Amino acid sequence: MSYYPEELLEEIRLHNDIVEVVSDYVKLEKKGKYYFGLCPFHNEKTPSFSVTPSLQIFNCFGCGKGGNVFHFIMNIENLDFQEAVKFLAEKANITLPEYDAGYDTERLRLKKEIIEINTEAARFFYRTLLSENGGAGRKYLKSRGLNADTIKRFGIGFSTGEYDSLKKYLNTKGYTDEKLVQSGLVIKSTNGAYDRFRNRIMFPIFDLRGNIIGFGGRVINDDKPKYMNSPETIVYNKRNSLYGLNFAKNANDKQVVIVEGYMDVISLHKYGIINSVASLGTALTESQGRLLKKYFEELIIAYDADTAGKDATMRGLDLLSDIGCNVKVLQIPDGKDPDEYIRTNGPEKFRLLMKKALSLVEYKISVYRKLFGDNTVDSKVKFLNAISQVLAKIESRIELEMYVKKLAGEYEISEESLYSEIAKYRKVKDTRMPRYYSANRQFKKSDELKTNPSYRDELMMIAVLVTDNSMYELVKNDIDANYFTNKELKAIAIELMGRLKEGKRVVAAEILNMFSEKTAGDFTRVLENECNFDENKKPLDIVEKLKKNRLEKRKREIFLMLKNRENLKEGDVERLTIELNTIVKEMKNI
Ligand code: GTP
Ligand code: MN
Repeated sequence: MSYYPEELLEEIRLHNDIVEVVSDYVKLEKKGKYYFGLCPFHNEKTPSFSVTPSLQIFNCFGCGKGGNVFHFIMNIENLDFQEAVKFLAEKANITLPEYDAGYDTERLRLKKEIIEINTEAARFFYRTLLSENGGAGRKYLKSRGLNADTIKRFGIGFSTGEYDSLKKYLNTKGYTDEKLVQSGLVIKSTNGAYDRFRNRIMFPIFDLRGNIIGFGGRVINDDKPKYMNSPETIVYNKRNSLYGLNFAKNANDKQVVIVEGYMDVISLHKYGIINSVASLGTALTESQGRLLKKYFEELIIAYDADTAGKDATMRGLDLLSDIGCNVKVLQIPDGKDPDEYIRTNGPEKFRLLMKKALSLVEYKISVYRKLFGDNTVDSKVKFLNAISQVLAKIESRIELEMYVKKLAGEYEISEESLYSEIAKYRKVKDTRMPRYYSANRQFKKSDELKTNPSYRDELMMIAVLVTDNSMYELVKNDIDANYFTNKELKAIAIELMGRLKEGKRVVAAEILNMFSEKTAGDFTRVLENECNFDENKKPLDIVEKLKKNRLEKRKREIFLMLKNRENLKEGDVERLTIELNTIVKEMKNI
């Protein structure tokens, strides 16, 4: 493990997509939900090295290496864990804390200084809002229903119409024009430098750790542009940031609402819906999706009902479900946005909308219904064709059957013909390794994975829990960390179950940070090839197996001790015999 905080490690990991990182070293080819390539760690002519973007892991079934993006960099760059962390932090433009003095480079100092400048600026804007120059700003915020608490919590401020008041103030604090330009707050012109944001409500943008990395500014009249954001800087990367995530991640909620704008997040927050974030006017990116996937089980898109919002919803749905997120769509009546809706109707009504959010398939059905709305044969055919492509992606047989039954009934066609339409779009079932790659090939298992069933079962238990966190609910009353006989896995299980117990989300690639190199390889192997999560009963079966494995191990120990009676103390024989009897009885009950 590392001396960096787990949260920072996660930020670094999430900002380094494993497919992108690996692609710098290996030519990858996409097959279903995997990428394949020639393993960089051993010599081979046909690819046995795979990367799974949805799990953010890699695995080679030729040589047994596997793990998350840190393990990959450790292996390929020949670095230790700390060095791999630094390497990837640098790549993602993430500032490591200063206790690592060796890393305090020029770049890091600059980042720290820009964050300081932003923080000073936010204070300046906040003070301005409360000052006599802030009257117009205060009036505007009041008209939008914000109170002093909310304003303070989000650090909202005001920039006056003056040409360079912020610049002058920050100059007196010792920051040069050059640095201020680098922060994005000041623009250089031939007539000297001046403030970028003027006569606007100022929203500081925070990173996950609460550092101010940029600003959004809204006009208080009908001027254009309505919103202006900081440009990309050394600390602000739009594609990686989500407004409100610093608060939302602490909400300890399984769901998150994704909205379009600053005011939506702030308004929801004000009414107690803290688990909301905004992607701030840009299309959602995969990197944002992975961040959300880490913190939440269910993502609810709640964009505006206008055409742009609907298009963004479709794109967001596809993007998020492609990276393995569970996405829903919340529809707001009367073309309102979340801010307007919650202010008019209150939080209960909004929570009701959250509850009624449509699944991806339901949403697409409703969209296509409207699109091919008339009752002509041609439209119906078009509808069924479009919807077949959506249904083709459903993995659960039961779910698929329910939709097929319903639609076939409604459109008066046979289920068979709908199934055959769907089959056209159904690719090879790609929840497992494609056959082409796995057939006739001896999977290399580490000796321990081959010969030690309890080791395998224990890895499997961890794999089940991280693949589907809700399984913890199912097993929590039956499982005990003491069932884990492998020391490393026991420590990991304790940590994992501790987090799940607190309602935190844990993903596979995250818990992999705790695995040693060898065990990481075995764990990814189990994740990729041996876990079958279709059967819900499985997790409890594994718990039983762990229980049994442990009892068997103890039984063998006792047998051995009883065999060498001469080493035992008085009374030991009796005690061990009693324990043995209990074990035998317990094993009968399993
Ligand atoms: P309010 O009118 O303040 O309620 O904003 P809104 O959030 O309802 O506005 P809208 O739906 O128009 O915009 C949603 C988000 O898109 C905003 O919060 C901004 O982040 C972004 N946005 C909107 N207009 C502009 C613009 O003119 N320029 C830029 N860069 N971003 C914008
Ligand atoms: Mn609005």
